[in-house]
Amino acid sequence: MNTILVTGCSSGFGLETARTFLDRGWTVIATMRAPRGDVLPGSERLRILPLDVTDADSIARAVEAAGPIDVLVNNAGVGLLNALEGVSMNEVHEVFETNTMSTIAMTKAVLPQFRERRAGVVVNVSSSVTMRPLHLLSVYTASKAAVNAFTESLALELEPFGVRARLVLPGAAPETSFGANARARMGGTVPEAYADMAAQVYAGFQQMTQFTRASDVAEAVWRAATDPSCPMRLPAGADATALAAAA
Ligand SMILES: NC(=O)c1ccc[n+]([C@@H]2O[C@H](COP(=O)([O-])OP(=O)(O)OC[C@H]3O[C@@H](n4cnc5c(N)ncnc54)[C@H](OP(=O)(O)O)[C@@H]3O)[C@@H](O)[C@H]2O)c1
Repeated sequence: MNTILVTGCSSGFGLETARTFLDRGWTVIATMRAPRGDVLPGSERLRILPLDVTDADSIARAVEAAGPIDVLVNNAGVGLLNALEGVSMNEVHEVFETNTMSTIAMTKAVLPQFRERRAGVVVNVSSSVTMRPLHLLSVYTASKAAVNAFTESLALELEPFGVRARLVLPGAAPETSFGANARARMGGTVPEAYADMAAQVYAGFQQMTQFTRASDVAEAVWRAATDPSCPMRLPAGADATALAAAA
């Protein structure tokens, strides 16, 4: 039986990914910073483990408690939308710790078992924003572009050991808690000098006609996990797919 460990399962893409793999007969280790038993259906094949991906001890405990896994999905992440001048260095660190460093740390923690078994897949959830530059997203985009570069280089060194690494690039998904979580964490407002730019960015969001659903991301993760011939980068969602086609 196949086992998958997913980070950031309390909401959004991680929750939907856990649900999808459970529905399809996998054993799922759904990890959450603050574990909740009420968001996923009860199942003998489901384990919920505490995991704060920015905490090295928490990573070690979760990987130990999980035991052997076949697929790791680095999904936990935080957003940040602001002009660089309005961003504190603490916020920059938080974004990179959560989106980038944790992806590297989690991957490093599971690699020995994957290499020894000569099997395993690492799926890293990046973002379609890395496909083209956008206003007010410099720090967030940099944190995800680093994940892309990390994953693509790592895939080369893991290939001789039969271990795969893949990227899922979701588009904008207003249905998840991502925007609300980002707004709640962003104490600072956009600096006055960038107010018009921000207004245009927000107006652009209102005009968007194509979006990404959590189910699009879960399907892309499914493909990355189960199809050895899938491409390195898997756009997820109508907007991300259109962007990739135009690139
Ligand atoms: N939604 C979008 O528009 C979008 C687009 C492209 C890419 N993405 C990426 O997709 C991934 C999932 O986002 P989402 O849309 O599903 O947002 P979400 O609903 O906010 O989910 C993010 C998840 O990450 C978890 N998380 C944050 N910090 C954590 C930490 N230190 N340790 C463990 N878990 C942590 C959150 O847990 P808590 O409940 O504990 O905060 C939550 O479960 C992220 O990597 C994001 O960057 C999102």
